[in-house]
Amino acid sequence: MTNEKRIQQVALERGIPSAGPYPWMRIANKVLGKLGVPVELHRRFDHHNEMVSAEQVVNFDLLMDEVLSRNITGDVVELGCYTGHTAAVLARMLHAHGDTRKLHVFDRFDIELGRVIGVREEFEERLRRVNVPMPIIHQGDVFGLTPEDLPSAIAFAHIDLGVGGEIALHERLVLHAMELVYPRLSKGGIIVLMDFHLPGVTVKGNDSNPGATKAATAFFADKPEKMRPLNGGPCSHGFVRKA
Ligand SMILES: C[S@@+](CC[C@H](N)C(=O)[O-])C[C@H]1O[C@@H](n2cnc3c(N)ncnc32)[C@H](O)[C@@H]1O
Repeated sequence: MTNEKRIQQVALERGIPSAGPYPWMRIANKVLGKLGVPVELHRRFDHHNEMVSAEQVVNFDLLMDEVLSRNITGDVVELGCYTGHTAAVLARMLHAHGDTRKLHVFDRFDIELGRVIGVREEFEERLRRVNVPMPIIHQGDVFGLTPEDLPSAIAFAHIDLGVGGEIALHERLVLHAMELVYPRLSKGGIIVLMDFHLPGVTVKGNDSNPGATKAATAFFADKPEKMRPLNGGPCSHGFVRKA
């Protein structure tokens, strides 16, 4: 199986149904292959309506697998869950591992991006569709949280708070999110930060919300750990492992 096909397969298994080429592209790619044309057609990522790329799902798979198989203490949290694309992926991974730790999600649920109306309803519906226990939902503004509002130990955190708005506001929000999560993150625990992007290093992802990288760079300036970029295909993200 080619690397590309494996990436699509993992994404489909984790509940990202739109991953992969359209059926007609598969036929066209077969014809191109038979003709010996060294070209393949791909679906263009829709940055308005899709929240996670197939490549990012594979990265989540590897990083979550590491945390779970090393038995890192704590729950899983997501700050910025919107309609649950990535929460469904994380919940399915916990379920696949037979792991009973809790998944906590935090969001205002009143920011309608793309085509969606009724964000929380859509979140709950998506999670029901993938047949996993409903995460613990914390509805409200992340700026209003203190570390005590998060689980006392965290093994894995995903921060995804970008809505394509004001860069300075997003930077302050991600900095605040880091201040909430980092003190509660167990040794060996992992934070994945959506939109972390290093020009010239990030392979080809968009720099959709530059406040994320600014906040992470400032936050980790005096810490022993540093964020590392991942290859998220059309989307940028990065991670840090607590020393
Ligand atoms: C890009 S979306 C998250 C996508 C989500 N991870 C998914 O896969 O569906 C960003 C989310 O951050 C949330 N958000 C932005 N600012 C927030 C704030 N101050 N407090 C709580 N949530 C916030 C928005 O409501 C939105 O749902």
